[in-house]
Amino acid sequence: MTHGATASPEALRTAMVDQLVRAGTIRSKAVEAAFRTVPRHAFAPEATLVQAYAAHDAVATKKNEHGIDVSSVSAPDVQALMLEQAEIQAGMRLGEVGSGGYNAALMAEVAGPDGSVVTIDIDRDVTDRARRLLDANGYEGVRVVLADAEHGLPDAGTLDRLIVTVGAWDIPPAWTDQLAEDGRLVVPLRTRGLTRSISFDRDGDRLVSRSAEVCGFVTMQGEGEHIERLLLIRGKEIGLRFDEGWPADPDALNGVFDTDRVEKWTGVTVAPGEPIKGMQMWLASALDGFCLMSVDTEMDTGLVAPQNKRANITLLDGDSLAYLAIRRTGDGAEFGVHGYGPNAAEVADALAEELQTWDRDHRQDEPVIYVYPAGTPEADLPPGRVITKRHRRIVISWPQEGQVSKSTITEKGK
Ligand SMILES: C[S@@+](CC[C@H](N)C(=O)[O-])C[C@H]1O[C@@H](n2cnc3c(N)ncnc32)[C@H](O)[C@@H]1O
Repeated sequence: MTHGATASPEALRTAMVDQLVRAGTIRSKAVEAAFRTVPRHAFAPEATLVQAYAAHDAVATKKNEHGIDVSSVSAPDVQALMLEQAEIQAGMRLGEVGSGGYNAALMAEVAGPDGSVVTIDIDRDVTDRARRLLDANGYEGVRVVLADAEHGLPDAGTLDRLIVTVGAWDIPPAWTDQLAEDGRLVVPLRTRGLTRSISFDRDGDRLVSRSAEVCGFVTMQGEGEHIERLLLIRGKEIGLRFDEGWPADPDALNGVFDTDRVEKWTGVTVAPGEPIKGMQMWLASALDGFCLMSVDTEMDTGLVAPQNKRANITLLDGDSLAYLAIRRTGDGAEFGVHGYGPNAAEVADALAEELQTWDRDHRQDEPVIYVYPAGTPEADLPPGRVITKRHRRIVISWPQEGQVSKSTITEKGK
Protein backbone atom coordinates (compact mmCIF):
# COMPACT_ATOMS: atom_id res chain seq x y z
CA MET A 1 0.00 0.00 0.00
CA THR A 2 1.36 3.44 -0.87
CA HIS A 3 0.72 6.52 1.19
CA GLY A 4 0.67 9.41 -1.25
CA ALA A 5 -0.55 12.97 -0.99
CA THR A 6 -4.17 11.83 -0.69
CA ALA A 7 -3.71 9.55 2.35
CA SER A 8 -5.38 10.60 5.60
CA PRO A 9 -3.30 11.77 8.60
CA GLU A 10 -4.41 8.63 10.46
CA ALA A 11 -3.21 6.32 7.69
CA LEU A 12 0.10 8.17 7.43
CA ARG A 13 0.56 8.02 11.20
CA THR A 14 -0.15 4.29 11.29
CA ALA A 15 2.36 3.71 8.48
CA MET A 16 5.02 5.80 10.23
CA VAL A 17 4.61 4.04 13.57
CA ASP A 18 4.56 0.61 11.91
CA GLN A 19 7.83 1.51 10.18
CA LEU A 20 9.48 2.61 13.44
CA VAL A 21 8.29 -0.55 15.23
CA ARG A 22 9.56 -2.79 12.41
CA ALA A 23 12.95 -1.02 12.50
CA GLY A 24 13.19 -1.64 16.25
CA THR A 25 13.38 2.11 16.98
CA ILE A 26 10.11 1.98 18.90
CA ARG A 27 10.45 -0.92 21.34
CA SER A 28 8.01 -0.32 24.19
CA LYS A 29 4.23 -0.39 24.22
CA ALA A 30 4.06 2.97 26.02
CA VAL A 31 6.13 4.80 23.40
CA GLU A 32 4.24 3.08 20.59
CA ALA A 33 0.89 4.12 22.09
CA ALA A 34 2.07 7.73 22.40
CA PHE A 35 3.14 7.87 18.74
CA ARG A 36 -0.18 6.33 17.67
CA THR A 37 -2.12 8.89 19.74
CA VAL A 38 -0.49 12.30 19.21
CA PRO A 39 -1.38 13.91 15.84
CA ARG A 40 2.11 14.89 14.64
CA HIS A 41 0.73 16.87 11.69
CA ALA A 42 -1.12 19.17 14.09
CA PHE A 43 2.26 20.08 15.66
CA ALA A 44 3.86 20.62 12.24
CA PRO A 45 1.45 22.88 10.35
CA GLU A 46 4.45 24.20 8.36
CA ALA A 47 4.75 20.83 6.58
CA THR A 48 2.63 18.80 4.19
CA LEU A 49 1.03 15.70 5.71
CA VAL A 50 3.53 13.47 3.96
CA GLN A 51 6.48 15.52 5.28
CA ALA A 52 5.01 15.59 8.79
CA TYR A 53 4.81 11.79 8.86
CA ALA A 54 8.18 11.02 7.24
CA ALA A 55 9.88 8.78 9.81
CA HIS A 56 13.40 10.13 9.29
CA ASP A 57 12.73 13.83 8.62
CA ALA A 58 12.64 16.83 10.93
CA VAL A 59 10.29 19.71 10.10
CA ALA A 60 12.19 23.00 10.16
CA THR A 61 10.26 25.72 11.96
CA LYS A 62 12.77 28.59 12.24
CA LYS A 63 15.99 29.65 10.50
CA ASN A 64 18.54 32.27 11.58
CA GLU A 65 19.74 35.19 9.45
CA HIS A 66 22.26 32.88 7.70
CA GLY A 67 19.53 30.45 6.65
CA ILE A 68 20.61 27.83 9.20
CA ASP A 69 17.89 25.89 11.05
CA VAL A 70 17.69 26.94 14.70
CA SER A 71 14.42 25.24 15.57
CA SER A 72 12.53 22.25 14.28
CA VAL A 73 10.17 19.48 15.20
CA SER A 74 12.73 16.68 15.42
CA ALA A 75 12.56 13.60 13.21
CA PRO A 76 10.26 10.86 14.57
CA ASP A 77 13.04 8.25 14.58
CA VAL A 78 15.25 10.48 16.76
CA GLN A 79 12.35 11.27 19.12
CA ALA A 80 11.52 7.56 19.42
CA LEU A 81 15.18 6.71 20.06
CA MET A 82 15.44 9.27 22.89
CA LEU A 83 12.09 8.34 24.47
CA GLU A 84 13.17 4.69 24.54
CA GLN A 85 16.55 5.66 26.00
CA ALA A 86 14.72 7.60 28.72
CA GLU A 87 12.60 4.58 29.81
CA ILE A 88 9.87 6.84 31.19
CA GLN A 89 7.46 5.28 33.68
CA ALA A 90 3.91 6.46 34.37
CA GLY A 91 3.76 9.22 36.98
CA MET A 92 7.29 10.53 36.39
CA ARG A 93 8.29 14.20 36.53
CA LEU A 94 9.76 15.05 33.14
CA GLY A 95 11.75 17.93 31.71
CA GLU A 96 12.50 18.78 28.10
CA VAL A 97 15.03 21.28 26.76
CA GLY A 98 13.94 22.60 23.35
CA SER A 99 10.21 23.02 22.71
CA GLY A 100 8.59 21.93 19.47
CA GLY A 101 5.36 20.92 21.22
CA TYR A 102 5.11 17.46 19.65
CA ASN A 103 7.80 15.72 21.70
CA ALA A 104 6.44 17.26 24.90
CA ALA A 105 3.01 15.84 23.98
CA LEU A 106 4.57 12.41 23.44
CA MET A 107 6.26 12.69 26.85
CA ALA A 108 2.96 13.67 28.46
CA GLU A 109 1.28 10.61 26.94
CA VAL A 110 4.00 8.26 28.24
CA ALA A 111 4.03 9.82 31.74
CA GLY A 112 0.22 9.66 31.90
CA PRO A 113 -2.19 11.73 34.04
CA ASP A 114 -0.11 11.34 37.21
CA GLY A 115 3.08 12.54 35.55
CA SER A 116 4.18 16.06 34.63
CA VAL A 117 6.06 17.71 31.78
CA VAL A 118 7.95 21.02 31.71
CA THR A 119 9.53 22.12 28.45
CA ILE A 120 11.82 25.13 28.07
CA ASP A 121 13.16 27.01 25.09
CA ILE A 122 15.43 30.03 24.74
CA ASP A 123 13.37 31.51 21.90
CA ARG A 124 10.05 33.26 22.52
CA ASP A 125 8.76 32.47 19.01
CA VAL A 126 9.29 28.80 19.82
CA THR A 127 7.64 28.86 23.26
CA ASP A 128 4.66 30.84 21.90
CA ARG A 129 4.26 28.34 19.08
CA ALA A 130 4.57 25.34 21.41
CA ARG A 131 2.07 26.79 23.91
CA ARG A 132 -0.47 27.46 21.15
CA LEU A 133 -0.16 24.00 19.59
CA LEU A 134 -0.20 22.14 22.92
CA ASP A 135 -3.36 24.02 23.99
CA ALA A 136 -5.03 23.39 20.64
CA ASN A 137 -4.43 19.65 20.94
CA GLY A 138 -5.47 19.00 24.51
CA TYR A 139 -2.07 19.22 26.25
CA GLU A 140 -2.80 22.29 28.40
CA GLY A 141 -1.12 20.52 31.34
CA VAL A 142 2.36 20.72 29.78
CA ARG A 143 4.24 23.74 31.19
CA VAL A 144 6.12 25.78 28.58
CA VAL A 145 8.79 28.17 29.90
CA LEU A 146 11.05 30.70 28.19
CA ALA A 147 14.58 30.16 29.60
CA ASP A 148 18.21 29.37 28.75
CA ALA A 149 18.85 25.73 29.66
CA GLU A 150 22.28 26.63 30.98
CA HIS A 151 20.59 27.45 34.30
CA GLY A 152 18.23 24.49 34.40
CA LEU A 153 14.44 24.41 34.20
CA PRO A 154 12.97 27.22 36.34
CA ASP A 155 10.56 26.14 39.08
CA ALA A 156 10.49 22.57 37.79
CA GLY A 157 11.81 21.03 41.00
CA THR A 158 13.35 17.56 40.93
CA LEU A 159 13.07 15.66 37.67
CA ASP A 160 13.02 11.91 37.09
CA ARG A 161 13.96 12.35 33.45
CA LEU A 162 15.49 15.25 31.54
CA ILE A 163 15.52 14.96 27.74
CA VAL A 164 17.64 17.55 25.95
CA THR A 165 16.52 18.00 22.35
CA VAL A 166 19.24 20.39 21.19
CA GLY A 167 22.88 19.60 20.47
CA ALA A 168 24.99 20.16 23.61
CA TRP A 169 28.76 20.37 23.95
CA ASP A 170 28.78 20.38 27.75
CA ILE A 171 26.54 19.40 30.65
CA PRO A 172 25.78 22.35 32.94
CA PRO A 173 25.71 21.55 36.68
CA ALA A 174 22.06 22.70 36.81
CA TRP A 175 21.00 19.65 34.78
CA THR A 176 22.42 17.14 37.23
CA ASP A 177 21.46 19.21 40.29
CA GLN A 178 17.86 18.99 39.17
CA LEU A 179 17.90 15.22 38.56
CA ALA A 180 16.52 12.80 41.15
CA GLU A 181 19.12 10.50 42.78
CA ASP A 182 18.03 7.71 40.42
CA GLY A 183 17.22 10.12 37.60
CA ARG A 184 18.26 9.89 33.98
CA LEU A 185 19.51 12.48 31.49
CA VAL A 186 19.21 11.87 27.74
CA VAL A 187 21.27 14.34 25.75
CA PRO A 188 22.78 14.68 22.26
CA LEU A 189 26.34 15.34 23.44
CA ARG A 190 29.18 16.39 21.14
CA THR A 191 32.67 15.23 22.04
CA ARG A 192 35.61 15.65 19.66
CA GLY A 193 33.09 16.63 16.96
CA LEU A 194 30.99 13.43 17.22
CA THR A 195 27.39 13.72 18.41
CA ARG A 196 25.73 10.81 20.20
CA SER A 197 22.37 10.70 21.94
CA ILE A 198 23.56 9.41 25.30
CA SER A 199 21.37 8.16 28.12
CA PHE A 200 23.11 8.82 31.42
CA ASP A 201 22.15 7.52 34.83
CA ARG A 202 22.98 9.70 37.79
CA ASP A 203 25.44 8.07 40.17
CA GLY A 204 26.16 10.55 42.98
CA ASP A 205 27.98 13.50 41.45
CA ARG A 206 28.86 11.66 38.26
CA LEU A 207 26.87 10.38 35.28
CA VAL A 208 27.38 6.95 33.72
CA SER A 209 26.20 6.15 30.20
CA ARG A 210 23.86 3.27 29.41
CA SER A 211 23.67 3.71 25.64
CA ALA A 212 24.94 6.08 22.95
CA GLU A 213 23.40 6.37 19.48
CA VAL A 214 24.35 8.46 16.46
CA CYS A 215 22.12 11.49 15.92
CA GLY A 216 22.13 15.05 14.62
CA PHE A 217 20.60 18.18 16.17
CA VAL A 218 20.51 21.95 15.83
CA THR A 219 23.14 23.40 18.14
CA MET A 220 22.76 24.95 21.57
CA GLN A 221 22.36 28.74 21.77
CA GLY A 222 22.80 31.01 24.77
CA GLU A 223 25.43 30.65 27.47
CA GLY A 224 26.16 27.01 26.61
CA GLU A 225 26.89 27.73 22.94
CA HIS A 226 30.18 26.24 21.80
CA ILE A 227 31.44 26.75 18.27
CA GLU A 228 34.08 24.40 16.92
CA ARG A 229 37.15 26.08 15.42
CA LEU A 230 37.99 25.66 11.77
CA LEU A 231 41.52 25.69 10.32
CA LEU A 232 41.33 26.43 6.59
CA ILE A 233 43.92 25.00 4.18
CA ARG A 234 44.35 25.62 0.41
CA GLY A 235 42.27 28.76 0.45
CA LYS A 236 39.00 27.48 1.80
CA GLU A 237 38.95 24.12 0.04
CA ILE A 238 39.84 21.97 3.05
CA GLY A 239 38.92 22.63 6.65
CA LEU A 240 40.12 20.91 9.80
CA ARG A 241 37.49 21.08 12.55
CA PHE A 242 38.52 21.19 16.21
CA ASP A 243 35.83 20.81 18.85
CA GLU A 244 38.37 20.88 21.66
CA GLY A 245 42.02 21.88 21.36
CA TRP A 246 43.88 23.56 18.50
CA PRO A 247 47.21 22.71 16.77
CA ALA A 248 50.30 24.12 18.53
CA ASP A 249 51.56 25.53 15.21
CA PRO A 250 48.74 25.79 12.65
CA ASP A 251 51.06 27.45 10.07
CA ALA A 252 53.10 24.23 9.91
CA LEU A 253 50.25 22.77 7.81
CA ASN A 254 50.37 25.46 5.10
CA GLY A 255 52.02 23.32 2.43
CA VAL A 256 50.89 19.92 3.69
CA PHE A 257 48.92 19.04 0.55
CA ASP A 258 51.82 20.01 -1.76
CA THR A 259 53.54 16.74 -0.85
CA ASP A 260 52.80 13.40 -2.49
CA ARG A 261 50.03 11.26 -1.03
CA VAL A 262 50.98 8.11 0.88
CA GLU A 263 48.23 5.50 0.59
CA LYS A 264 47.74 2.54 2.94
CA TRP A 265 44.94 -0.04 2.90
CA THR A 266 44.16 -1.68 6.19
CA GLY A 267 42.27 -4.90 5.46
CA VAL A 268 39.51 -3.55 7.75
CA THR A 269 36.25 -4.00 5.89
CA VAL A 270 32.64 -3.01 6.40
CA ALA A 271 29.50 -4.64 5.03
CA PRO A 272 26.83 -2.56 3.24
CA GLY A 273 24.73 -0.71 5.83
CA GLU A 274 26.84 -1.92 8.76
CA PRO A 275 27.00 0.74 11.49
CA ILE A 276 30.50 1.97 12.32
CA LYS A 277 29.67 4.36 15.17
CA GLY A 278 32.00 2.39 17.45
CA MET A 279 34.91 2.84 15.06
CA GLN A 280 34.54 6.61 15.05
CA MET A 281 34.34 6.72 18.85
CA TRP A 282 37.34 4.42 19.15
CA LEU A 283 39.48 6.65 16.92
CA ALA A 284 38.23 9.79 18.70
CA SER A 285 39.31 8.32 22.01
CA ALA A 286 42.52 6.57 20.92
CA LEU A 287 44.20 9.32 18.87
CA ASP A 288 45.80 12.40 20.45
CA GLY A 289 45.72 14.47 17.25
CA PHE A 290 42.12 13.59 16.31
CA CYS A 291 40.13 16.14 14.32
CA LEU A 292 37.54 16.14 11.52
CA MET A 293 38.17 17.20 7.92
CA SER A 294 35.59 18.87 5.71
CA VAL A 295 35.84 19.70 2.01
CA ASP A 296 34.03 22.76 0.62
CA THR A 297 31.82 21.34 -2.13
CA GLU A 298 32.09 24.49 -4.27
CA MET A 299 35.90 24.67 -4.06
CA ASP A 300 36.58 20.93 -4.23
CA THR A 301 39.40 20.24 -6.75
CA GLY A 302 39.34 16.51 -6.04
CA LEU A 303 42.80 16.64 -4.44
CA VAL A 304 41.61 14.79 -1.36
CA ALA A 305 39.29 11.77 -1.38
CA PRO A 306 38.03 11.34 2.19
CA GLN A 307 35.48 8.74 3.19
CA ASN A 308 33.07 11.54 4.17
CA LYS A 309 33.44 15.08 2.82
CA ARG A 310 31.65 16.79 5.71
CA ALA A 311 33.21 15.24 8.78
CA ASN A 312 36.07 12.87 8.02
CA ILE A 313 38.26 11.32 10.66
CA THR A 314 41.74 12.83 10.52
CA LEU A 315 44.94 12.47 12.53
CA LEU A 316 47.17 15.47 12.81
CA ASP A 317 50.80 15.42 13.87
CA GLY A 318 52.67 18.72 13.57
CA ASP A 319 53.24 19.40 9.86
CA SER A 320 51.68 16.12 8.65
CA LEU A 321 48.28 14.51 8.63
CA ALA A 322 46.42 11.38 7.59
CA TYR A 323 42.74 10.92 6.91
CA LEU A 324 40.34 8.01 6.57
CA ALA A 325 39.60 6.80 3.02
CA ILE A 326 37.44 4.00 1.68
CA ARG A 327 37.34 1.80 -1.42
CA ARG A 328 34.79 -0.67 -2.66
CA THR A 329 35.44 -4.37 -2.33
CA GLY A 330 33.29 -7.20 -3.79
CA ASP A 331 30.35 -6.88 -1.39
CA GLY A 332 31.33 -4.04 0.90
CA ALA A 333 34.17 -1.59 1.41
CA GLU A 334 37.68 -1.46 2.87
CA PHE A 335 39.07 1.36 4.99
CA GLY A 336 42.35 2.93 4.11
CA VAL A 337 44.40 5.97 5.00
CA HIS A 338 45.83 8.82 2.92
CA GLY A 339 48.83 10.60 4.44
CA TYR A 340 50.36 13.97 3.54
CA GLY A 341 53.31 16.02 4.75
CA PRO A 342 56.95 15.31 5.63
CA ASN A 343 55.93 12.48 8.00
CA ALA A 344 53.04 11.20 5.90
CA ALA A 345 54.05 7.54 6.19
CA GLU A 346 54.35 7.60 10.00
CA VAL A 347 51.05 9.43 10.54
CA ALA A 348 49.29 7.14 8.07
CA ASP A 349 50.70 4.12 9.91
CA ALA A 350 49.49 5.46 13.26
CA LEU A 351 45.92 5.96 11.98
CA ALA A 352 45.91 2.59 10.18
CA GLU A 353 47.13 0.80 13.33
CA GLU A 354 44.31 2.23 15.44
CA LEU A 355 41.78 1.17 12.81
CA GLN A 356 43.20 -2.34 12.97
CA THR A 357 43.16 -2.31 16.77
CA TRP A 358 39.47 -1.37 16.72
CA ASP A 359 38.77 -4.16 14.22
CA ARG A 360 40.73 -6.76 16.20
CA ASP A 361 39.86 -5.86 19.79
CA HIS A 362 36.82 -3.56 19.94
CA ARG A 363 34.56 -4.19 16.98
CA GLN A 364 31.81 -5.58 19.23
CA ASP A 365 32.38 -3.08 22.05
CA GLU A 366 30.71 0.11 23.10
CA PRO A 367 32.46 2.57 25.37
CA VAL A 368 31.07 3.68 28.69
CA ILE A 369 31.02 7.46 28.90
CA TYR A 370 31.45 9.02 32.32
CA VAL A 371 30.76 12.62 33.25
CA TYR A 372 32.55 14.12 36.27
CA PRO A 373 32.60 17.63 37.72
CA ALA A 374 35.27 19.82 36.07
CA GLY A 375 37.59 19.90 39.08
CA THR A 376 37.86 16.12 39.49
CA PRO A 377 41.56 15.15 39.74
CA GLU A 378 43.01 12.74 37.18
CA ALA A 379 43.59 10.11 39.87
CA ASP A 380 39.85 9.92 40.62
CA LEU A 381 38.83 9.31 36.99
CA PRO A 382 38.33 5.86 35.43
CA PRO A 383 40.78 4.80 32.69
CA GLY A 384 40.06 6.23 29.25
CA ARG A 385 40.29 9.33 27.06
CA VAL A 386 39.65 12.40 29.19
CA ILE A 387 38.06 15.42 27.52
CA THR A 388 37.95 18.50 29.69
CA LYS A 389 35.10 20.91 29.04
CA ARG A 390 33.97 24.04 30.84
CA HIS A 391 31.79 22.30 33.43
CA ARG A 392 32.85 18.68 33.11
CA ARG A 393 35.51 16.10 32.58
CA ILE A 394 34.17 13.47 30.19
CA VAL A 395 35.87 10.07 30.14
CA ILE A 396 35.38 7.68 27.20
CA SER A 397 36.24 4.29 28.64
CA TRP A 398 36.60 1.08 26.61
CA PRO A 399 36.62 -2.43 28.02
CA GLN A 400 40.20 -3.45 28.84
CA GLU A 401 41.57 -6.71 27.58
CA GLY A 402 39.85 -9.65 29.30
CA GLN A 403 36.79 -7.63 30.36
CA VAL A 404 33.33 -8.32 28.99
CA SER A 405 32.16 -5.42 26.88
CA LYS A 406 28.94 -3.59 27.58
CA SER A 407 27.43 -4.56 24.23
CA THR A 408 28.22 -8.24 24.92
CA ILE A 409 26.33 -7.98 28.21
CA THR A 410 23.35 -6.46 26.36
CA GLU A 411 23.45 -9.24 23.77
CA LYS A 412 23.39 -11.86 26.50
CA GLY A 413 20.61 -10.11 28.35
CA LYS A 414 18.26 -10.11 25.33
C1 LIG B 1 15.24 20.54 17.67
S1 LIG B 1 14.42 21.86 18.45
C2 LIG B 1 13.41 21.06 19.68
C3 LIG B 1 12.49 20.04 19.13
C4 LIG B 1 11.34 19.65 20.02
N1 LIG B 1 11.77 19.05 21.26
C5 LIG B 1 10.35 18.72 19.33
O1 LIG B 1 9.20 18.67 19.78
O2 LIG B 1 10.69 18.06 18.37
C6 LIG B 1 15.70 22.58 19.44
C7 LIG B 1 15.26 23.78 20.23
O3 LIG B 1 16.25 24.07 21.20
C8 LIG B 1 16.17 25.45 21.48
N2 LIG B 1 17.38 25.89 22.20
C9 LIG B 1 18.61 26.15 21.70
N3 LIG B 1 19.44 26.54 22.70
C10 LIG B 1 18.72 26.52 23.84
C11 LIG B 1 19.02 26.84 25.20
N4 LIG B 1 20.24 27.26 25.57
N5 LIG B 1 18.03 26.72 26.10
C12 LIG B 1 16.77 26.32 25.74
N6 LIG B 1 16.44 26.02 24.47
C13 LIG B 1 17.39 26.11 23.53
C14 LIG B 1 15.98 26.08 20.11
O4 LIG B 1 15.42 27.37 20.20
C15 LIG B 1 15.09 25.07 19.41
O5 LIG B 1 13.75 25.46 19.45
